[in-house]
Amino acid sequence: MTSLSGKSVLLVIGGGIAAYKCLELIRLLGKEGCKVVPLMTKAAEQFVTPLTVASLAGTKVYSDLFSLTDETEMGHIQLSRAADLVVVAPATADLMAKLAHGIANDLASTALLATDKSVLMAPAMNVRMWRHAATQRNLKTLIADGVLIVGPNDGDMACGEYGPGRLAEPDEIVAAIRASLATHPRVLAGKKVLITAGPTREPIDPVRYISNHSSGKQGYALAAAAVDLGAETMLVSGPVHLPLPPGAQVMPVESARDMLKVVEREVPCDIAIFTAAVADWRVESAANEKIKKSGKDAPTLILSENPDILKTIASLKSKRPKLVVGFAAETENVLEHAKAKLASKGCDLIVANDVSAKGDVFGSDQNAVHLVSANGVESWPRMSKAHVAEKLMAHFAKLIS
Ligand code: PMT
Repeated sequence: MTSLSGKSVLLVIGGGIAAYKCLELIRLLGKEGCKVVPLMTKAAEQFVTPLTVASLAGTKVYSDLFSLTDETEMGHIQLSRAADLVVVAPATADLMAKLAHGIANDLASTALLATDKSVLMAPAMNVRMWRHAATQRNLKTLIADGVLIVGPNDGDMACGEYGPGRLAEPDEIVAAIRASLATHPRVLAGKKVLITAGPTREPIDPVRYISNHSSGKQGYALAAAAVDLGAETMLVSGPVHLPLPPGAQVMPVESARDMLKVVEREVPCDIAIFTAAVADWRVESAANEKIKKSGKDAPTLILSENPDILKTIASLKSKRPKLVVGFAAETENVLEHAKAKLASKGCDLIVANDVSAKGDVFGSDQNAVHLVSANGVESWPRMSKAHVAEKLMAHFAKLIS
């Protein structure tokens, strides 16, 4: 038995090429014992047939707002409320715009407006449509209204273009459905949380770089915890090998300077958490071609200091986040160094951890942290990074309430 068995989802299928992925989504949900009631827009019927959807779901497909039988049997109001969650996949630009503006002119948009349940949207569209100011405006409105978002992912698109706009994979949507149905109080609904995670890479030449051992696990766990509490979650991530946390918007970066640019674009926000292990130095002039062994002396690398992202954001005047949290990765005198960082970086709180071999934090699934603030030090026992993240997010939510 899984956390989805016995649950019921109203699946609104929008009209996009990615509609075919709904068939796999219905199959995966069915495998977990989750009932799927399909509702298709007229456009969706151009991409997959109602017969295929009905056969997989094992139930009839709803599509007509004015069907007398449906209105007597159930009606669009009951249809939207009988489920535990309403999922829209693919959520087209049109469906997003309709819900953002409260337009109800077909069965899908009417059910979305009439529901008293949470709505999870999995957007999918052409990359330019996704990036269009109107869609981004609608996305912000939907998030502020408490709509949950999973994806879109980056990649090759059916239209031949490349970028964000691909429907999240069916297993990612299932994970987001599971998270949406979890019984966490949504204390961060309407709040924006920005998290940096992973290492940065500072190029030496086109094939070599300076980096560190951060796996991104602690930062990604924080992003998942922020999503669970209902926050609009922006995850600025250095290169890692982790599945994307469903519901978070992931912005991949490479170097410290790239990371700063994206972070500056994303403020103001309510909470900013800096878990990334940012390289303190970069090679002053990275070579354009691979450096060859000369057979004589080894090359000398001249380093220059990277911008301090945490310090930059903590010292903002009008755009400073309400709560700025730094992490401190130390190999000795953990508390002493963490207290010094709290003062020098200007943040509200430092979460310190011991990254020496003895501490076993980098890449591990566990962590032991100390919360260092103007109020003193609070040390937590070693626990899973997911649990650290849940406890930290709940603590941060209280601090800004
Ligand atoms: O990724 P994992 O394998 O799960 O490991 C987790 C972690 C050890 C990376 C994480 O828990 C952690 O401690 N992150 C902070 C790593 C770090 O760079 O610490 P620091 O003490 O060097 O930096 C202090 C703070 O300043 C950090 O919040 C860091 O993000 C920030 N910083 C540092 C340098 C810089 N140029 N810009 C920054 O913003």
